[in-house]
Amino acid sequence: MNVLLIGCGGMGRMHAEMISRSGLTLAVCADEARPAAVALAQKYGAKAVTDGLKAIENKNIDIVAIATPTPEHLPLIKAAARAGKHIFCEKPFCRTVKECEAALAAVDKAGVKLFVGHVVRYFHEFETLREQAKSGRIGEVGFVKLYRGGLLPNGPKSWFADYKKSGGVTMDCMIHDLDWLRYTFGEPKRIFCQALMKSKPVFMDYSQVTMRMKNGIIATVIGSWAHPAGFRVKAELCGSEGLIAYDSAEAPLTSMLRSESATGSMIVPSSPVSESPYLREWLDFVQWIDTGKCPRVSPADALKAVAMAEAALTSARTGQPVAF
Ligand SMILES: NC(=O)c1ccc[n+]([C@@H]2O[C@H](COP(=O)([O-])OP(=O)(O)OC[C@H]3O[C@@H](n4cnc5c(N)ncnc54)[C@H](O)[C@@H]3O)[C@@H](O)[C@H]2O)c1
Repeated sequence: MNVLLIGCGGMGRMHAEMISRSGLTLAVCADEARPAAVALAQKYGAKAVTDGLKAIENKNIDIVAIATPTPEHLPLIKAAARAGKHIFCEKPFCRTVKECEAALAAVDKAGVKLFVGHVVRYFHEFETLREQAKSGRIGEVGFVKLYRGGLLPNGPKSWFADYKKSGGVTMDCMIHDLDWLRYTFGEPKRIFCQALMKSKPVFMDYSQVTMRMKNGIIATVIGSWAHPAGFRVKAELCGSEGLIAYDSAEAPLTSMLRSESATGSMIVPSSPVSESPYLREWLDFVQWIDTGKCPRVSPADALKAVAMAEAALTSARTGQPVAF
């Protein structure tokens, strides 16, 4: 199957590799910044273009992969659905629930498959935490604490620093954990959030969510784009029989490459010796297309993750908890 990749920035570069490792052909690389499209296309023997919308019309394309800034997701999903292509889209599904609903309507009408990259569901560490919690190893889970953060991706001039476009750390980054909590522990009942969301004198976004799940579990989720450097993920699950903890900085094996720019795109760290979770999500998507077996993430899940992040942002703005 031939893939058109739209957006050749940090995540586009990551997905180009996963597309080729999934047995697919990266046929066209599209980026409105021509040098980005050309650099990636040359590496994979693909064609480089600047107009992603036009490239969607190409009859030889089977799958459209979207790795553009979040506000571009809706128009590209709609166009890809209209053209009858299957779609891989980076999270967040869209910037708002309303946009997600419009995208979902277009996808349903066209009868194409849409996969949203909630990659944390494919991280071995988070898979293990989920299995251990569900197996009852730590008894009945009472509280969960999750932390994900570091510095603002791509620096203060990037679209990430524009709260309207990215939704800040709450919509862009914490959404990983909100989705994983729902995936593991079921539906949320109530969410309360406080967020810094500062742009001056330096950009600092720090978001703290307290959530009650319908099954009674209390979850605290912290997302940070306020740290001066580095990126770290932590998790703590506490139950009636014990506790499981994970800290990416204390993982048995970590890798830090000088070639990975300190202000680059924020790609979630994972063990360099295990199969990449980004590859695993692609394989799940391809299997869905090939065999019809449903993947780990449904479009409805992706919409619900945006709804949770949106509720958190509403709570941060109003100072009131939001009930689901
Ligand atoms: N799953 C993860 O771990 C993870 C990590 C980081 C970012 N993301 C998500 O991936 C998406 C992309 O983030 P990124 O870090 O790669 O951003 P980025 O800024 O590094 O790259 C975006 C690229 O898209 C290009 N672009 C913008 N508008 C375009 C358009 N209309 N048509 C074609 N190209 C266009 C830009 O020129 C740029 O090269 C975002 O939705 C982000 O939230 C996911």
